[in-house]
Amino acid sequence: MISRAHILFTSVAIVSVGAALWLAPYAAAQNSGFRNAPASAAEMKNPYKSASAAAAGQKLYALNCAQCHGSNLQGIGPAPALDRAPVRNAKPGELFWFITKGKLESGMPSWSNLSQQQRWQIVTFLESQGNTKAAAK
Ligand code: HEC
Repeated sequence: MISRAHILFTSVAIVSVGAALWLAPYAAAQNSGFRNAPASAAEMKNPYKSASAAAAGQKLYALNCAQCHGSNLQGIGPAPALDRAPVRNAKPGELFWFITKGKLESGMPSWSNLSQQQRWQIVTFLESQGNTKAAAK
């Protein structure tokens, strides 16, 4: 015999499965890379990862980025801090991609005028600033 509790349980289960299927694509979209970087960006490997690359990147950061993002990556006004989790967890190629492209409409210039080497050096510098994930790579 089918109890009332059983019917209730079954309907709740059906509704939950339905909701999970419905929300799954949304959850997947939320988990996409840093700033919706394409997978091809995430796969790029940084060819400039030495300590001297980090030092060169630090100089480039001071010249080009510090006026907006702060000399200690702390962020100033609309320019976000770069020592936060989203940046720390971003893959090197995703940072390279975003720095190259910029987002002019919200005030982040494109840095495609810097050489690829210089952009990677900046990525190496950013990652040298307490990014344990990158340090382990
Ligand atoms: C003129 C000011 C300005 C300069 C110079 C600048 N940025 Fe930005 N940057 C911004 C702003 C504003 C944002 C936020 C844009 C947004 O959220 O859409 C941003 C966003 C970023 C982000 C994304 C941060 C996040 O949490 O999503 C990164 C990474 C970044 N900048 C790196 C750099 C680097 C590296 C340089 C130097 C090569 C640089 N920026 C120079 C203004 C600037």
